[in-house]
Amino acid sequence: MSKKKKWDLVIFETQEKKAVINRFRITKKTMTAAGQHGKAIILVDKQGKDWLLKTFSKIIDFEEEKISDLEVDIQDSPEESRHRMHLWRVLNELTASRLGQRLKLNVPNVIVVCSQTISDLVLKKSSPLTLGDVVILDEEDGGPETANEFYDFSKREGYTLETSANFEQLLASRSDKNDPSTILALLTEKIPNSINLDEFLDTYKDLDAAFEHIRQIDDGYSLLPFDIWLNDPDINAGNYLVQLNDKKEATHIWGIDYEMWALGSDIWMEEDEITKGRSYLTAIIHPTANIFDERVLHTIHRIRSLEDQEVTEITVSPRLLCKFFEYHITQKHIDAEERIVLKQVETNLEDFLSESRPRSDKLSDVLIRQVGLPKDYKP
Ligand SMILES: Nc1ncnc2c1ncn2[C@@H]1O[C@H](COP(=O)(O)OP(=O)(O)O)[C@@H](O)[C@H]1O
Ligand SMILES: [Mg+2]
Repeated sequence: MSKKKKWDLVIFETQEKKAVINRFRITKKTMTAAGQHGKAIILVDKQGKDWLLKTFSKIIDFEEEKISDLEVDIQDSPEESRHRMHLWRVLNELTASRLGQRLKLNVPNVIVVCSQTISDLVLKKSSPLTLGDVVILDEEDGGPETANEFYDFSKREGYTLETSANFEQLLASRSDKNDPSTILALLTEKIPNSINLDEFLDTYKDLDAAFEHIRQIDDGYSLLPFDIWLNDPDINAGNYLVQLNDKKEATHIWGIDYEMWALGSDIWMEEDEITKGRSYLTAIIHPTANIFDERVLHTIHRIRSLEDQEVTEITVSPRLLCKFFEYHITQKHIDAEERIVLKQVETNLEDFLSESRPRSDKLSDVLIRQVGLPKDYKP
């Protein structure tokens, strides 16, 4: 009998690989939706739950020996700009998922995974920053000298991975270089019995009746402040899921695909006729929502109650990302100076969240503008 590995991906809590967090097996199933990740491969975990694997192949710009950056020319084709933002997309989606979970919203759980080669790299506290480069963060005190000083990795999630040859092959198949180590991937909890919001709306002859149905579901109201806060320019109808019960009735709404928030400050889809610069969901439910709606207020309250410290923790990426950088620096795929990019993305996310968080009344103002006050409200 051939020795077939039962699992394709095992996630351990720590470097020592003692406690298993979860195990996954590659299935023959793929998603069947439109979009860049519409054909994502489905993995099943040890409880039988499905997850989808979104792979990001353009993290590194091999010609420039850089992390593919954000210098996106508006004139570029949308495909081009997608390619240049893969690291940002991964971290945006991870952070939005962590935040959504923390705020008890319907945003699927996300885990960053990659090749075992990256995960196996051991970053010791005393590991010097390789190649003799000094990355100067603070010119006055000369900058950090060890990996730990630079990445502060004791503050980072330290899980490690074990993968099968099949999983490595799957990653390699997504890489221009046929090299699994160049890929970062997101494992996203698949929401069972769900369809995209646009697909759901299409099942109705009468759009108003469909909208009415969505307005009956509490989740939509809870998600509104989150979406307005994150200001994601890509929250169209394809990026919400409607979860159905056995009778095919809509029971829950989920927000997905938070890859683009924090990339621009105010790039709402202003020109869209239905959304008029709001998320698609806001556009649908605003006639029956207002700022004093309990469900809306609940989320606002949760956002307001987040401590600054929590915001910081949520934007610190797992240690796996530091290993990804260190590995590709040793392989001379990227310059050592590129380390700073990881910090920049994290700082950008943290700043965006701290500055736009409703510590001030900014979020409430935006909400009032977008969903309004009760009709009989008198200040
Ligand atoms: N967590 C999920 N549960 C169920 N289906 C999902 C989930 N995430 C994505 N999908 C499906 O896969 C499609 C593509 O995923 P998405 O995250 O929107 O990537 P992109 O739009 O960048 O291709 C979605 O439109 C949806 O149909
Ligand atoms: Mg999408």
